[in-house]
Amino acid sequence: MHSFRYVQGRLNCESVDLEALAEKHGTPLYVYSKETITDHFKRLDHGMERLDHLVCYAVKANSNLAILQTIAELGGGFDIVSGGELFRVLKAGGQAGKCTFAGVGKTRGEIEYALQQGIYCFNAESEAELRLIDQVAGDLGKKAPVAMRVNPNVDAKTHKYISTGKSENKFGVDFDRVLDAYAAIAKDCPNLEIRGLQMHIGSQLTSIDPFVEAAKKVTPLVEALKERHNIQFFSIGGGIGIVYRESLDSGDQSWWGGKSDEERPLTIGTYANALVPILEPLKLRILMEPGRFMVGNAGALISKVLYIKQGNAKKFVIVDAGMNDLIRPVLYEGWHQITPLQKSEAKPELVDVVGPICESGDFIAQDRELTPVVAGDTLAILSAGAYGFTMASNYNTRPMPAEVLVDGKDAHLIRERQTLDDLIKGEHLVGESAEEA
Ligand code: LLP
Repeated sequence: MHSFRYVQGRLNCESVDLEALAEKHGTPLYVYSKETITDHFKRLDHGMERLDHLVCYAVKANSNLAILQTIAELGGGFDIVSGGELFRVLKAGGQAGKCTFAGVGKTRGEIEYALQQGIYCFNAESEAELRLIDQVAGDLGKKAPVAMRVNPNVDAKTHKYISTGKSENKFGVDFDRVLDAYAAIAKDCPNLEIRGLQMHIGSQLTSIDPFVEAAKKVTPLVEALKERHNIQFFSIGGGIGIVYRESLDSGDQSWWGGKSDEERPLTIGTYANALVPILEPLKLRILMEPGRFMVGNAGALISKVLYIKQGNAKKFVIVDAGMNDLIRPVLYEGWHQITPLQKSEAKPELVDVVGPICESGDFIAQDRELTPVVAGDTLAILSAGAYGFTMASNYNTRPMPAEVLVDGKDAHLIRERQTLDDLIKGEHLVGESAEEA
């Protein structure tokens, strides 16, 4: 479901008029729909209901406290990749006991923190990491719950920067080494409790085939680990792709923007129908780690047109959101639909929508058909809820945007726009530092 639609020619998020929000909070502004997040969580949760399962939302996709709170209230767990993300989850009311900790480079400090908080499992990516976890757990007098991430060497057929399940990627332990690695760990590491196996082959997968290929390849390994090490869970990772081209007609509130079955790249129906029968016979707890699916379509970045510039080769629409606010277009060739807040029936023209940053890579869209806009108009950049704000930066010393969570008729400011003082917080002039380095 998506909750951005035109109502009498004005773009709304649920029942909130976006132009009014932009006026109140300024732009660039991230706006999220609680309805969409809730709907997507429930779809996945219900899709998997035949299995003993837990949806562990991948915090990296959008880590605002209010978003985490929403997921926690729905009963979700969390897939975290840093001590910082664990801190956020706890602040938002999430339970450490429902957290898995992923990532290839966990530090001793992060491992200590996660152990002290009592996370559900460390998803380790190398034997070296497991040996450190064992040591830290021993020092703290604790037993650390662990799983290994298997790299199944399956092509996820997605952008190369977000493909993770091939042998040449830095992630996980090679498929054919996993059994030996578990045996070595079981023998050498008394402070570890082997609890599961994890995999994640990539992000924004729009076909079910790689998921099925990976699941079929890995389930015999899971069976073997269950027998030898009595594991409790198998995490199938995240990666469910979303539709970036949406329909915004007011009457159309259906799943995937009203697209027909053939046009939908991947639905939860397809996902569950294909995977549940493969996973059910394992009789284990199944974890999922969706990030983009949960929040991607739930968010839009609202941005104002600053100038129009007609060049010899191109027409540029210069907006107040830049690559520092949304880096996906230049980093992953990410395509985000752009639509004016006031619906226009005028004939579209070909433009580049660019930001104010001093880089040629600072574009939101290139060669895009957009109905004519003028300075002062406001645009919505859609499906920006995942990996939008979390990848934003202060580049060019630009304050981070504000964030709003819409819930029906209500809009909650869930992050204030940074001030100029925020931008220099913690910096010191030489001679004025609080302490010498
Ligand atoms: N689990 C693990 C271990 C992951 O590394 C990731 C994402 C996820 C789950 C969640 O994947 P999702 O369900 O969101 O596809 N910044 C990129 C995406 C990077 C994904 C990194 N890992 C983008 O904007 O496309």
